[in-house]
Amino acid sequence: MIETKEILYTDSRDLYSDLVSFSGNKYQPLHRWYSLVEGFSSEFVRRIIGEQNEMPKVCFDPFMGVGTTALTCQDLGVKCYGVENSPFFYDVTRAKLRTDYDALEFSELIDDFEIYLRSCKHVHPLPEIETKTLFQVEGRERWIFNDPVREGITDILEKMHLLPVSLNKYFNLFKVALGSHLVSISNVFRNGKCLSFKKNWEQKIILREDVHKLFINYCRNVLLVDIRSKANAVTQIHNYVNVFRGDSRQLIQNLPDNSIDLVITSPPYLNSRDYTDIYRLELWMLGYVSKFVEEKKLRSSALTSHVQIAVAETESPDIPELNEFLAHLHTVESLWNKNIPNMVKGYFSDMQSIFENLLPKLQNNAMLYINVSNSAYGNKICEVDTILAKIAEAKGYEALEIRTARYINSSKQQSIASKLRESVIVLKKSS
Ligand SMILES: C[S@@+](CC[C@H](N)C(=O)[O-])C[C@H]1O[C@@H](n2cnc3c(N)ncnc32)[C@H](O)[C@@H]1O
Repeated sequence: MIETKEILYTDSRDLYSDLVSFSGNKYQPLHRWYSLVEGFSSEFVRRIIGEQNEMPKVCFDPFMGVGTTALTCQDLGVKCYGVENSPFFYDVTRAKLRTDYDALEFSELIDDFEIYLRSCKHVHPLPEIETKTLFQVEGRERWIFNDPVREGITDILEKMHLLPVSLNKYFNLFKVALGSHLVSISNVFRNGKCLSFKKNWEQKIILREDVHKLFINYCRNVLLVDIRSKANAVTQIHNYVNVFRGDSRQLIQNLPDNSIDLVITSPPYLNSRDYTDIYRLELWMLGYVSKFVEEKKLRSSALTSHVQIAVAETESPDIPELNEFLAHLHTVESLWNKNIPNMVKGYFSDMQSIFENLLPKLQNNAMLYINVSNSAYGNKICEVDTILAKIAEAKGYEALEIRTARYINSSKQQSIASKLRESVIVLKKSS
């Protein structure tokens, strides 16, 4: 059994409650390009950096999402490494971190795109992807994209692939613009852990031209406007070259030793959200996956935090609060999924290896800020923040504080009366 000292819990809701959600990025140039519900705000990162006695030299986000930490650091002149598993989020991040756009060139490309789309009347064959639920085909009762919408999307993809190699840097911008609208033009919405059909979806009519218009307007009124607003910015640090696509459980090992002095991150929560599933429209329609094996591979490279695939039993860290929670799960007769105990073990075992692999990469006294939320299964709260802090303590970190950021509702499946604490765990590499 691992012995740890008392952890200080503080109420920091006045500081953080608005900052741990992505909505703070709504009017922030570049950050606003793709709304990631699970993300935090640029202001969250800026405040943490402002809290340090000295400006950090090298920051790191092992669960980068759409790059909020890396972009905020870039704006503040701080080098930041990042790792992200989703190829789409990775491309969104890289689109935002680029500083070599030419506003005039991009504006002309949008004009050219618009002219092309106006002439699109031809019928496209169905995209060659294995998933069968996306398109309106005979005999199917429900589908995600109506035919005119699919045609509109395919027109845009077709034109994107005609982009000359010399203008390749704009390709991801168009992906971001299209990716930002896929859910709104579809028949589904993101409903927490999954995609659900919109009410009266059969009656909603979106024309092929509507899809074109949304896309072009977004390119012009959001992307181009933001690129123009940054035209005179002097960028000293280019984090574009410091971000990597893949599984941070492995990739952390490639970072230079003793290099990082600040970590600001938010790992997937232990809330059974499968990012590969929730963001499947972006992944399948934008060409990141076309076969189920590819989807499965992506899913397995994500941190263990959902039950969409059977999770092998792993040895979990020996922490009293975790042992107690696992013991509780064994007493529950009807968990909504039988893989939940293994998922819980896998989550903490994965996070333990993140802490282990990260340690040699950190400078002495490096600070870590981890935004996470507690979870509930079998009508009991799992104190994820406390357990993570204790795992970190056992691996060479000092748990300085757990700051309550806000309280959030648990999902319907978890059915507990009390709200769940979302917090910021503050750790320091012990010297
Ligand atoms: C809570 S989100 C982070 C959002 C980010 N803070 C932002 O503001 O954009 C967690 C991210 O971890 C990523 N992720 C999951 N497993 C991963 C892994 N093994 N390696 C790297 N990233 C992973 C998910 O794809 C997701 O983007």
